[in-house]
Amino acid sequence: MLEELEKIEHGALETLSRVGDDAALEAWRVTTLGRSSPLMQVFDRLGSLAKEERPLIGRRANEVKRNLESRLAELSEALRTQALARALQTERLDITLPGRSLAPGRLHPSTQILRRIYAIFAEMGFQVYRSREVESDENNFELLNMPQHHPARDMWDTFHTLAPGVLLRTHTSPGQILVMREQAPNPIRVILPGMCYRYEQISARKEIQFNQVEGLAVGENITFGDLKGTLTDFARRMFTPDVRTRFRASHFPFTEPSAEMDIECFLCQGKGCNVCSGTGWLEILGCGMVHPTVLRNGGYDPERFTGYAFGMGPERIAMLRYRIDDIRYFWANDIRFLEQF
Ligand code: DAH
Repeated sequence: MLEELEKIEHGALETLSRVGDDAALEAWRVTTLGRSSPLMQVFDRLGSLAKEERPLIGRRANEVKRNLESRLAELSEALRTQALARALQTERLDITLPGRSLAPGRLHPSTQILRRIYAIFAEMGFQVYRSREVESDENNFELLNMPQHHPARDMWDTFHTLAPGVLLRTHTSPGQILVMREQAPNPIRVILPGMCYRYEQISARKEIQFNQVEGLAVGENITFGDLKGTLTDFARRMFTPDVRTRFRASHFPFTEPSAEMDIECFLCQGKGCNVCSGTGWLEILGCGMVHPTVLRNGGYDPERFTGYAFGMGPERIAMLRYRIDDIRYFWANDIRFLEQF
């Protein structure tokens, strides 16, 4: 029996010397110290031994067991230390390195101005209504009182599509027709923002794509005074409370009477520069009382209803507020420009 214990111990230490990882160590533990290992069987057999032999064999068996258990613990600890050292080597991390800062995104200047415009008109009770950028010739021109071949169409150089009668909207005004047809005969107070397209020679003042914000109010007692008051108030909230504005008589086929509102050029304080073409004033919107024909096309009886409308260019406004002297910056996507906002 003693010899058998010697052999068990010797053999176990021998295999242990070849164990190099946790999995092998666990396998070794099961075969050497597990319930059905030869060593444990020695304990099982102690009871059947002669009385005199029992203490000697028992003591020796316990010795072997403790020895193997402590070897197991040692090697297990050594393996852990090795693994840690390896991880420290390969996963080296210098926590003193400065972090990489993330470049935060920004809102495009047009978006900033658009949101400001929404906020101002929201305070005055206007809702935002969106409509499509690809429009019918009918909505973009015809129902706005410009039949085919009407000379006023020349004011809007148009991108036509290959589909007859389908174009890129040249202004947000066709939205007026869409809202009226949806709302008639209820009163209306909306703004209609969105991208417009024109077949233009690009210059410091003209782009082929730009945003507009259209406004439309329809009701039973709406006057030109309401129009002037609303837009003057808008200019004061948008620029400064003492901003100078002026209304000039103008012509649009879809309004009668029509006007344009100018604000004093911020860049040159009215002295005249290349942005305001030397006039000292910047036109920021067109407006007027909705033409009876347009009201009728929208489903409102012009005998009973009146309305005003306006259309403004947020890029123009952004140019004033931020003193940008060339509209071409807006869609050039030059990060040096965009980062300034
Ligand atoms: N649609 C016009 C344009 O693009 C701007 C405009 C003028 C809109 C007068 C209006 C208006 O609603 O009443 O030039």
